[in-house]
Amino acid sequence: MFAHLTPLPADPILGLSALSKADTNPKKVDLGVGVYKDDNGKTVILGAVQAAYEHMVETEGSKVYIPPVGWPGFTDACQELVFGEAMKADLAPHMAAIQTPGGCGALRLGFDLVHQAAPETTVWVSNPTWANHVPTLQAAGLSHKVYDYYDRENSTVDVDAMLASLEGAKAGDLVLLHACCHNPTGADLPADAWGSIIELMTKKGLVPFLDMAYQGFAAGLSEDAAGVRQVFEAMPEAVLSYSCSKNFGLYRERTGCLMVKGSQKDATAALTTNLAKIARTNYSMPPAHGAALVTTIMQNEALKQDWMDELAAMRKRINSLRASFVNALSPYGLDNRFGAVAGQTGMFSLLNLTPEQVQQLRAERSIYFPDNGRINVAGMTEANIPYLAESLSSLF
Ligand code: LMR
Repeated sequence: MFAHLTPLPADPILGLSALSKADTNPKKVDLGVGVYKDDNGKTVILGAVQAAYEHMVETEGSKVYIPPVGWPGFTDACQELVFGEAMKADLAPHMAAIQTPGGCGALRLGFDLVHQAAPETTVWVSNPTWANHVPTLQAAGLSHKVYDYYDRENSTVDVDAMLASLEGAKAGDLVLLHACCHNPTGADLPADAWGSIIELMTKKGLVPFLDMAYQGFAAGLSEDAAGVRQVFEAMPEAVLSYSCSKNFGLYRERTGCLMVKGSQKDATAALTTNLAKIARTNYSMPPAHGAALVTTIMQNEALKQDWMDELAAMRKRINSLRASFVNALSPYGLDNRFGAVAGQTGMFSLLNLTPEQVQQLRAERSIYFPDNGRINVAGMTEANIPYLAESLSSLF
């Protein structure tokens, strides 16, 4: 049965961690997987998470199964973060929400639901998009097309080109949008573009699927949700995959949520039961730990404030690294070429480099990031930035 299977190439993002770990060069810099690191290069447990964990150790008392929709209160907490209290209440009769194993699990469950409801659906993804989007939608049996998004020459979003490509979509197609902190480019939709996209999706009968994995890393928790809120307000049907990996630093706990807005009578019951059934045949119910921590934090005003402060500190530090990086490039005359990095948002930016140049940096300088040129800015430190700048200059 298995004899014909041959080894596959490493994952373009996750595979880099092993390479970097094995590298003994003391100057190595890992700008690969999107995880936040502090100035010592460490991904530490957030203080609010540690406090919630200690509380949980004392109070959990059982490891019995949790309900298929997840840890009690967790999906409410996520919806409150995404929509705010008032809008969450307004949306409630139309919404289903289910806890998932991470943001990736939410994407897969969402695509599975779409495939179950309408197997012929085409998903439109941005050019470029996160390396795992297309494999995940394909694994769910869906096909995809690509819409223009990033103008590499000018390092900006080309909204006109995006709208022009989506004119080619047909009724019922799904449009995958990055809610904020676009991965891999760091270039978000301008605030005023959301209205035009909603108008076009409404006109053509398209269904939005928003991927929100970095809430709080661009401008702030509610600021980063502004586009999502407009979409869920305006569109009769919408899907959102949510990840707590980055903003709560819960990466390995696989903590995410899928939210779906439906238009039919009894939308909540119809969508929730279908989602729970798909989950049941896949992993039964999600893991409890990370969701319990998020819920504990969100239900305790002091812990919530601590968490929001820690999130703001991560955001500010990444922004200051962006500025330092571009400053460090200036003596080499590269501040123009890569200057957009300073104004982009979230963990990533896309350097306009060829795969060969990226591989050269990896081989000769022990600097690790995927071949598409995506850097995890959170992997920089004030100490490694001069080395990064000098290494980049060696390419030109
Ligand atoms: C990333 O894009 O680096 C992260 O979302 C981690 C992953 O799973 O790829």
